[in-house]
Amino acid sequence: MENNTAIKITALKKIYDNGFKALNSIDLEISRGEIFALLGPNGAGKTTLINAVCGIVRPSSGTVAIAGYDNIMQYREARSLVGLVPQELATDSFETVWNTVTFSRGLFGKAHNPRHIEDILKRLSLWDKKDEQIRFLSGGMKRRVMVAKALSHEPEILFLDEPTAGVDVELRKSMWAQVRDLRETGITIILTTHYIEEAQEMADRVGIINKGHLILTEDKNDLMQKMGKRQMIFVLREPLAAIPTGLGSYPLTLEKDENGDRLILTYDPETENDISDVLDNLKSQGIRPKDIYSYQSSLEEIFIKLVEAK
Ligand SMILES: Nc1ncnc2c1ncn2[C@@H]1O[C@H](COP(=O)(O)OP(=O)(O)OP(=O)(O)O)[C@@H](O)[C@H]1O
Ligand SMILES: [Mg+2]
Repeated sequence: MENNTAIKITALKKIYDNGFKALNSIDLEISRGEIFALLGPNGAGKTTLINAVCGIVRPSSGTVAIAGYDNIMQYREARSLVGLVPQELATDSFETVWNTVTFSRGLFGKAHNPRHIEDILKRLSLWDKKDEQIRFLSGGMKRRVMVAKALSHEPEILFLDEPTAGVDVELRKSMWAQVRDLRETGITIILTTHYIEEAQEMADRVGIINKGHLILTEDKNDLMQKMGKRQMIFVLREPLAAIPTGLGSYPLTLEKDENGDRLILTYDPETENDISDVLDNLKSQGIRPKDIYSYQSSLEEIFIKLVEAK
């Protein structure tokens, strides 16, 4: 295995005791320092996959190596390299933030290190809450306490299962910034999310999972470029009865609604570049657009398209 590999998942399958096939032969390799987002609808298998990697769910077959350590045969080594923020939070604790995070570190048999705990709490903007009981914190703060716990034993890989579920927009953005900061410290981050926007904002690479199948994994920018068609929209000054025959050779469509008439050119910016051509042609046809703007589909549209196609 390459030194650069944080996680290598090979032919991983999970069939639950009731016979339900939650993971269908997953192969996935994640590099050190990556932020990898696992996207998928409810019940797709995201949590099952993360838990199988972290050693909480026992795979039916296949292997998981964490920095080269088999997560079953070398459980202790593998587990100590991993921090997990679970989807379901246990947050009714009477313990203080400080004690909870310190205790978590102890569970991994790591030497006491108040400086490290202080550093984490400050990084996650929890320092002023360190003596509060967890049950008195807001939902977003509780989630950050879970992140602090997961980081307490200095893991190399952090799993965030729906890190911003139920967190308001503003706080979500600050969590994204904190996650990016964490990556700057060299931690590999694997997160699951329902918010496509979140994957689009944060991830270097995106994996799309549906019904236990990893449909694809792809560099986020490549994915958006490949699947996301680019459109140039010409907003017309006057209504147009039909696309002029002289423009028939371009991939143009005419749309009409309360906002007026628009000619839409759909193209691939990598291989085609007809825009100036089209503009010249419009002009020679006596069509002068009132406005021109470009549009690229979001990861969300791509995602829906992929999941529906299966
Ligand atoms: N212990 C279990 N026994 C049987 N089936 C289970 C068990 N845990 C999960 N499942 C099933 O496995 C499938 C995948 O569940 P999982 O929790 O991994 O999905 P998920 O992608 O995390 O969904 P969500 O987005 O809702 O968190 C679901 O159909 C679920 O009902
Ligand atoms: Mg889940």
